Amino acid sequence: MIKILANDGISEAGKQQLEAAGFLVVTENVPQEQLIDDINNKQYDVLLVRSATKIRKDIVDACPSLKLLGRGGVGMDNIDVEYARSKGLTVVNTPASSSQSVAELVIGQMFSISRMTFDSERKMPSANTKEAFNELKKKYGKGVELRGKTLGIIGFGRIGKSIAQYAIGCGMNVIANDGYTNKDSEEITLDIANQKIKVVVNYVSKTDLLAQSDYISVNVPMPEDGNPVIGANEFSLMKNNVRIVNAARGGVIDETALLDALNNGKVAAAALDVFENEPTVNPAILSHPKIALTPHVGAATNEAQDRIGGELADIIINHFKN
Ligand code: 3PG
Repeated sequence: MIKILANDGISEAGKQQLEAAGFLVVTENVPQEQLIDDINNKQYDVLLVRSATKIRKDIVDACPSLKLLGRGGVGMDNIDVEYARSKGLTVVNTPASSSQSVAELVIGQMFSISRMTFDSERKMPSANTKEAFNELKKKYGKGVELRGKTLGIIGFGRIGKSIAQYAIGCGMNVIANDGYTNKDSEEITLDIANQKIKVVVNYVSKTDLLAQSDYISVNVPMPEDGNPVIGANEFSLMKNNVRIVNAARGGVIDETALLDALNNGKVAAAALDVFENEPTVNPAILSHPKIALTPHVGAATNEAQDRIGGELADIIINHFKN
């Protein structure tokens, strides 16, 4: 029997699909430092992870029973993919299953940082007198609308395109930058009320995107050279009062430069779902009144996790069917 350890969990539907096909699926979370012993003791054939568990060279080298490594999600930065493949392991992920959920979080946070609702919610428990309520009404009564504003999307893959679909639906002007294409523009399809509406999004240089955008969403993996995509220089090229969202990877935006840009008024507000030293986040980020925070939950919806579980189950069943 093929044994699977889903160390960061798998949706119930995905687990059931695998069990119905005759696989043993264990969803207990084994601490990172005990993983090698546990895999060897139980002779797992498959190790499935999300972003929490790291599959580095040590696990690949020390666990000969492993045949397949699966990432339920997009980013493979927690797996030494090329090394594992060079040792004959199959390594898979589910790049398409969570785009919509990440896009919905990004758009939700764009609304939140337009009206500062995240910070207002922190303060409302103290609005228990007429004076305190009116003071908060004054403080948070300076919001802005999304309609008519320009959203610059850095990284125009599946997630970037999904964000564009929602943003265009909100009446935003969308521009994109993507280092993987030479195209001038991209036609994307909005599926609204059973009508398919084609919209063209123009690619611009990163410099133009930074200069023209009222909102910026970064949707790229962490660059291999370790340098941030948005650092002090990039902030200096942006419009004043820009709003920025990172649901990609911590470190894509330099957190120190972001704090400076928030504190000197260049950036009006930011929303972060991912962090440089995740899960140990800089306290200055956690306590900043202009940063809306979520704990890396872009892909963490029931729907996305069901799609991810189903996609992983299909891949694994197909892989071991012969
Ligand atoms: C991804 O790369 O798919 C996301 O960052 C989701 O990570 P998670 O599986 O830990 O939610």
